[in-house]
Amino acid sequence: MPISSNNDVAKRLFVALDVPDADSALKLAEQLAPAGVSFKVGMQLFYAAGMRIVKELQTDGRTVFVDLKLHDIPNTVAGAMKSLLRQGVQFVNVHTQGGPDMMRAAAEAARQVSEETGTPRPIVIGVTLLTSLSQAHLNQFLGVNQDVKTYVQHLARQAKDCGLDGIVCSAQEASFIRSACGPDFLLVTPGIRPTQDAAGDQSRVITPRQAIQNGADYLVVGRPVIGASNPADAARRIIDEMAEALKA
Ligand code: C5P
Repeated sequence: MPISSNNDVAKRLFVALDVPDADSALKLAEQLAPAGVSFKVGMQLFYAAGMRIVKELQTDGRTVFVDLKLHDIPNTVAGAMKSLLRQGVQFVNVHTQGGPDMMRAAAEAARQVSEETGTPRPIVIGVTLLTSLSQAHLNQFLGVNQDVKTYVQHLARQAKDCGLDGIVCSAQEASFIRSACGPDFLLVTPGIRPTQDAAGDQSRVITPRQAIQNGADYLVVGRPVIGASNPADAARRIIDEMAEALKA
């Protein structure tokens, strides 16, 4: 993605609007508008406020990432995708662990809706291993005897083969995945913490600068921005750090 200004950089920052209702989301969106960021609507807000809030946030061509992490049998995921995409969702995700048929069904649903509506094909991203899960969780809870990087890279390759546009992963794994999946595969990275912030429940955290240096295309940040006393300033500090890393 060509970067020509801090405005372009700001669009690469998805602020997670993890709030309980439409009013809180719209208040935050208004505070954050001057920073020029993109928004992510996750389960908490979507289940409370639905497509209406997505549409309200998609003003002025702003990208809204609808992060519902679809995970079900292929037919159900394809149907859910079509329902979301016909209502204008442009950026959405599914779990890679739903399997190859499910990922193919999701990619095919995006292609079909794009053809049917005459709009650009929506971006479909695969969730790999949640950034709240650590090496110990992978080995002991999921029973997968691999290191996190190898496992995430494996899921990323599967996602690419099944026609997804990119994955969600920790920026700690980004450079490793980039080398396996090539320059056009989108890497969306949550688990970002400016150095002074607490990790909370995230295990695999990294700073905005390191995330960009490792090759992340989009950063997802929730609490460090929405919990700040001045969310726009907190977002601008992250954008400046991203911009510096992109210039280096
Ligand atoms: O508050 P925080 O910055 O930890 O928020 C991270 C956001 O990214 C949350 O909305 C969470 O749902 C999302 N996310 C994540 N890990 C993934 C995928 C999405 O933390 N693997």
